Amino acid sequence: QVSWKLADHPTLPKGKTLALIVLDGWGEDKPDEYNCIHVAQTPTMDSLKQGAPEKWRLIRAHGKAVGLPTEDDMGNSEVGHNALGAGRIFAQGAKLVDIALASGKIYEGEGFKYISECFEKGTLHLIGLLSDGGVHSRLDQLQLLLKGASERGAKRIRVHILTDGRDVLDGSSVGFVETLESDLAKLRENGVDAQIASGGGRMYVTMDRYENDWDVVKRGWDAQVRGEAPHKFTNAVEAVKKLRENANDQYLPPFVIVDENEKAVGPIEDGDAVVTFNFRADRMVMLAKALEYQDFDKFDRVKVPKIRYAGMLQYDGELKLPGRYLVSPPEIDRTSGEYLVHNGVRTFACSETVKFGHVTFFWNGNRSGYFNPEMEEYVEIPSDVGITFNVQPKMKALEIGEKARDAILSRKFDQVRVNIPNGDMVGHTGDIQATVVACKAADEAVKMIIDAIEQVGGIYVVTADHGNAEDMVKRNKSGQPLYDKSGKLQILTSHTCQPVPIAIGGPGLAAGVRFRNDVPDGGLANVAATVMNLHGYVAPNDYEPTLIEVVSN
Ligand code: 3PG
Ligand code: CO
Repeated sequence: QVSWKLADHPTLPKGKTLALIVLDGWGEDKPDEYNCIHVAQTPTMDSLKQGAPEKWRLIRAHGKAVGLPTEDDMGNSEVGHNALGAGRIFAQGAKLVDIALASGKIYEGEGFKYISECFEKGTLHLIGLLSDGGVHSRLDQLQLLLKGASERGAKRIRVHILTDGRDVLDGSSVGFVETLESDLAKLRENGVDAQIASGGGRMYVTMDRYENDWDVVKRGWDAQVRGEAPHKFTNAVEAVKKLRENANDQYLPPFVIVDENEKAVGPIEDGDAVVTFNFRADRMVMLAKALEYQDFDKFDRVKVPKIRYAGMLQYDGELKLPGRYLVSPPEIDRTSGEYLVHNGVRTFACSETVKFGHVTFFWNGNRSGYFNPEMEEYVEIPSDVGITFNVQPKMKALEIGEKARDAILSRKFDQVRVNIPNGDMVGHTGDIQATVVACKAADEAVKMIIDAIEQVGGIYVVTADHGNAEDMVKRNKSGQPLYDKSGKLQILTSHTCQPVPIAIGGPGLAAGVRFRNDVPDGGLANVAATVMNLHGYVAPNDYEPTLIEVVSN
């Protein structure tokens, strides 16, 4: 039985409107020409930085500070928002899958047993992101799963790949496909009929999120389930090389692998098993729905084979989706949002579609929906669909700013929480000029929200979930930009391992509140207790410590 009542903070008052602003993909790094945040005009964020060390500091947003396996793991939005919302560090999907594979427990669970009942007569299909990015999936985990499943009776295996170029360098897809092909060749030598069956770029095929564009999922469905795609190849390496002539890894069009008779080698059929091997939820939920739901009207599936489906993890704890999974997800319970609602803190959360679930679903521990609809309002601003965001780098920053401003001025909410996506979404395109525009737009949105906070005498907390826009090139160990064989600068489309800023302020911030200097390793998980304090409460004991103290002058 959870006791939801939070203790009153000894000195800090309740009832101040608090704006909680998360800049997506906004890290701190050396100022140079590839640091788009530095290059951009960002007067608001610059002035917040002037408040250091009492009102501005850096916090950790990658590696173990957010529950990832190693310090080499860059941060990402899922683990970042989980930590921000939950106030504690949970071993995340990447790590849980590692552990389950290393111990072999993955093969003893119900999920694996369920799918393995198809191994005798059916095909095992593995669908997921093919890279070593470690954000949504990891190649080494796929390799172990292939080996483990074949050793446990899978005789026919088809892999449906999604190429990356977003969490890893563009162009790296070719190498990943080659590695996978050589693994599959080894399986074939051992008598397993194993092949790549279909593919496509992650941003164009399958991995949409938050129902932004169901066509993305449909394109994948047609290739994976129906064996139909505009491009047909007999070899996946050749497919990726050829399709890269007109698109980058993120946006490769869908293709299927066919045999000598032009017949697709691996559509999903009755009696087959399917595993989506991504551990991260947001970009697998839509496919999971298409695979699992009987009633489904998002697109015409045409063919709905009777399959046994399991996710690598369960992707949505509230929807229990999918029902079967190979590894139990982190049990992110007692999140700050749930506590605050129980203590009467009225909450407004907003972003545009592509990041909407970050400040709701991820924030609340991978749980969809409200804790208490009477206390909360979540507003989604529709994202532009069918474009890459370097074309519209301002995205909906202004609209998010306006919605937050209106929510603040309405005085109907105690916490107004937003995610401003620009630095991240445009940073992922690798377009440096556009990312500079993006950062400026994000800064303007912050200003709009802070101005509203000034008007109502409130408090603001401005932070970020992980780095991205502050470094747009791959570098050697001494920090010099790297060039490829043809002399081209190697653009970094991915996140980084940089720390992120956190700033506090506003007329409602009580006198004497400042950042403590005894939590030097503070990270995103320390923000929840900090925010609870600013709402006038003390965080539960097992939360990571607050970043602030109150000094009497
Ligand atoms: C994506 O899903 O877009 C990237 O892999 C990670 O970006 P995010 O963690 O910022 O969402
Ligand atoms: Co990102």
